[in-house]
Amino acid sequence: MKFISIADAIKKGKGKVAVRGWVYRERGSNKFKFIILRDSTNTIQCILSREKFEKKWEEIDKIQVETSLEIFGVIKKDKRAPTGYEVKVSKINIIGLSDEFPIQKDLNEELLGDRRHLWIRSQKMIAIMKIRSTVTGALHEYFRKDGFYEFQSPIIIPGGAEEGPTMFEVKYFDKKMFLAQTWQLYAESVMYALEKIYCIAPSFRAEKSKTSRHLTEYWHTEMEVAWANLDDLMNYAEEMTKYVVKRVLEKNKKELEMLGRDTKKLEPTLKKKFPRVTYDDVLKILAEKKKMKIKWGKDLRTIEEEKFMELYDTPVFVTNYPKDVMAFYKPRDPKNPKTARCFDMLGPEKNGELIGGSERDTNIDELKKSLKAKGEKLEDYSYYFDIHSYGAIPHGGYGLGTERLIKWICGLDTIKDAIGFPRTMTRMKP
Ligand code: 4AD
Ligand code: MG
Repeated sequence: MKFISIADAIKKGKGKVAVRGWVYRERGSNKFKFIILRDSTNTIQCILSREKFEKKWEEIDKIQVETSLEIFGVIKKDKRAPTGYEVKVSKINIIGLSDEFPIQKDLNEELLGDRRHLWIRSQKMIAIMKIRSTVTGALHEYFRKDGFYEFQSPIIIPGGAEEGPTMFEVKYFDKKMFLAQTWQLYAESVMYALEKIYCIAPSFRAEKSKTSRHLTEYWHTEMEVAWANLDDLMNYAEEMTKYVVKRVLEKNKKELEMLGRDTKKLEPTLKKKFPRVTYDDVLKILAEKKKMKIKWGKDLRTIEEEKFMELYDTPVFVTNYPKDVMAFYKPRDPKNPKTARCFDMLGPEKNGELIGGSERDTNIDELKKSLKAKGEKLEDYSYYFDIHSYGAIPHGGYGLGTERLIKWICGLDTIKDAIGFPRTMTRMKP
């Protein structure tokens, strides 16, 4: 008999089936053994009677959580079974016995982290990984349907783009190189060839942040577009976000339910236009509605972003941050010259910055001034000046923290659960 998935067996709903997988739970009496079998698609209750398996009972008694099995039997509806169906087993093959599984329900986060290679089999991690797959798939779909080309840039790079001190060094033969924080500077050179490009790739940040939204290795979804201005970029960011959320709501109802996610909280994101507010207005709103006084000229801190976002139920674009504290490539806004033509898209429900983007400065004198003010060596950027010396055009792009989006959509407490094997300042294994 051909094996089918547990989901297909449940769909079939009656008659003979052959399924295989791992024991999710088991309990027994001296008359019966109940096994909840799981595969990647679902779980199903299987029942074995001692009467039928008398000769094999000693072997069957060795079945523990995570033992792998092949099961043949007859499936039927049963209201009492956890997924509504039950298989009455006629034949069972034990494929791999299991040691006592070292994860019980009440392990703390650290211990679950140490045993991640096993915890990854949990219903929670399975649900998150399925949603993650929908998210990255939807991101590819979104860009490709809109005529973007996928372009990959090097991970090992000679110098930075965001902030120098947050780069990981790599011993590269007898030289020093770095791990990329962004594909952006390469993307800008390729933008002159392909016009609309995107990428989903790892980025690395040696930030000493132990927050629930910082990883040292994360998957960065970036895009760069020719001829685009700030509004165009925010339009893309909004459409992309809506597209991904919609896809997850369509495809992953079951997983969101498993995670206990209140999906009503995601609905406004599909229905409403995301507000666009300037940094100046954020300070005013925080002073008025939250009694928070913030000195003009600094980037917004987590607590300020969170207080501000308590006022909204969709992501919000904050534009025109102070030019001097922004990355060198964000151009001055001629209408408000102390600010840059940039945006952050902040997520609701304490999720902070999901996306950072901007128009790009192609004025080489301005670029040099900004780099000097940040203490960077101009020689390191000569190729970047070169890029914009041959037919410069207005353009821009953004970067999305893919795990931050997943954290928000799934309603997770920590970004560490949004990725299979997280890397943070204190978590390097397994
Ligand atoms: O705001 P950032 O630093 O922008 C850039 O790197 C631009 N070069 C992107 C571009 O325009 N192509 O990073 C972009 C996003 C942030 O909004 C955040 O969501 C995510 O990357 N991010 C992190 N995610 C997880 N852990 C970290 N340590 C992150 N640092 C940034
Ligand atoms: Mg940023």
